[in-house]
Amino acid sequence: MKMKMNQLKRIKFKRVFTLLVCIFVLVLSIRYVISERAQATVKKETEIFTDAKYPTVEMQTLIKDQTHGGYSVNYPTLQIKEIDQTLKAYVNEEIANYQQAIAQKKIPKETSTELTITYDITHYSEQTITILFNEYQFTGGKLGEPSIQTFTFDLPSQRLISLQDIFYENSDYLNSLSMIAFTELKKSKKLAESETLKAKTEPKLENFSQFSILGDTIVLYFQPFLGSNGYSKTQSIAIKKAVFDSILKDSYKNTKTNKNKIEEAPPIHIVTELPKPSGIDPTKKVIALTFDDGPSKEPTTLILDALKDSDSHATFFVLGSRVQYYPEIIQRMLEEGNEVGNHSWDHPQLTRLTEEQVKHQVWDTQAIIKKVSGYEPVHIRPPYGAIDDSVRQCLGGMGVSLWSIDPEDWKLRNKDQIVQLVLSKVADGKIILMHDIYATSAEAAVEIIKQLKAQDYQLVTISELEEVKKQRQEAIPSKG
Ligand code: NI
Repeated sequence: MKMKMNQLKRIKFKRVFTLLVCIFVLVLSIRYVISERAQATVKKETEIFTDAKYPTVEMQTLIKDQTHGGYSVNYPTLQIKEIDQTLKAYVNEEIANYQQAIAQKKIPKETSTELTITYDITHYSEQTITILFNEYQFTGGKLGEPSIQTFTFDLPSQRLISLQDIFYENSDYLNSLSMIAFTELKKSKKLAESETLKAKTEPKLENFSQFSILGDTIVLYFQPFLGSNGYSKTQSIAIKKAVFDSILKDSYKNTKTNKNKIEEAPPIHIVTELPKPSGIDPTKKVIALTFDDGPSKEPTTLILDALKDSDSHATFFVLGSRVQYYPEIIQRMLEEGNEVGNHSWDHPQLTRLTEEQVKHQVWDTQAIIKKVSGYEPVHIRPPYGAIDDSVRQCLGGMGVSLWSIDPEDWKLRNKDQIVQLVLSKVADGKIILMHDIYATSAEAAVEIIKQLKAQDYQLVTISELEEVKKQRQEAIPSKG
């Protein structure tokens, strides 16, 4: 019995002791957490993480946690001295410039400002690494300013390189880049409107200072620019290295040494050849074939084959709802020099819709075309040609394209009658309306293309027709 009492006492003591230890540890850890937090909010931090994608790369973070004069800056270190110094010097200079801007503009202490720098490693191979910095700076005024900066290093020599270093001396690479950039960027309506497009794509090295060398493409980046709806996104164009086959230095072409260390997402906007001069003679007859309501499989393919065979182009006004089923047909249309236009999402009469519904019809169609092809249409043809001022206001400045010859092919459904009707009305500068969802229309189109070529017509897209008309100083005909 006595033994038992002693044992009980010992057990009780053990329990109390354990409890005390637990409380002690708990108090200590709470104090530790509190002091860490307090420090975090006060001090200017430098944090280091290992990059999740590249284990040898460390991400450095500089944060000054204040609304006025504060910043958040990330940059990588690669454990390569020369490169690390260059990158560190760059971010420090950006921070200094930002602080200087605040001081110079005498921004009051209670006004918040911002500097955010993030980065992406767009490529990291044996041959090169490219770091793309995205910067956002706000030091008063209406809008903060986004900008980009790329650094491409040649790894064997550890040197910062520019585009001229990857091409052979005396090669005409700048003219090629200029032609490609101008042609591709003009496809975006916003940029086409911007007056600076020509200046920004002139064959000067400084216009092509932002770039990245991937496995089999060279990517050019263009600074966001200020438009009527704020800043644009950064534009990028990936050009197949094969385009520069004879002028690109071997070391930057070599697929083995240029293979990225991780799998990289394929670029969206890819250019596979130099833009061909249009070859359209404005003094000769032109005509624009247009096809609505597609794309479809057989009819559209038949028309595309005929256009390709006769070195001709047409415009396809497609429905957004159909694009997702035929992405490769949209890509083919564009690759072969045809134009893709917007014909709404699912063909309602736009004038009967609310503003919100019209915007869905127009902009979801723009978005899906861009998603599958990287191209944004610059022309819209409203279903039934129905348009009024309130619809026009939802089009973001897109050109409205109607027609001048309508054979009502959807009603006739007879190849010979369609051919006859169209050919009886053709004339220089006309726009023909047909539909690439009926076999009869497609067969008729094949014959029409043949006959028009025999009559020396140049078969052009709507954009090309507008260009010819501009050159001839004529106005584009509307429906009639
Ligand atoms: Ni239609």
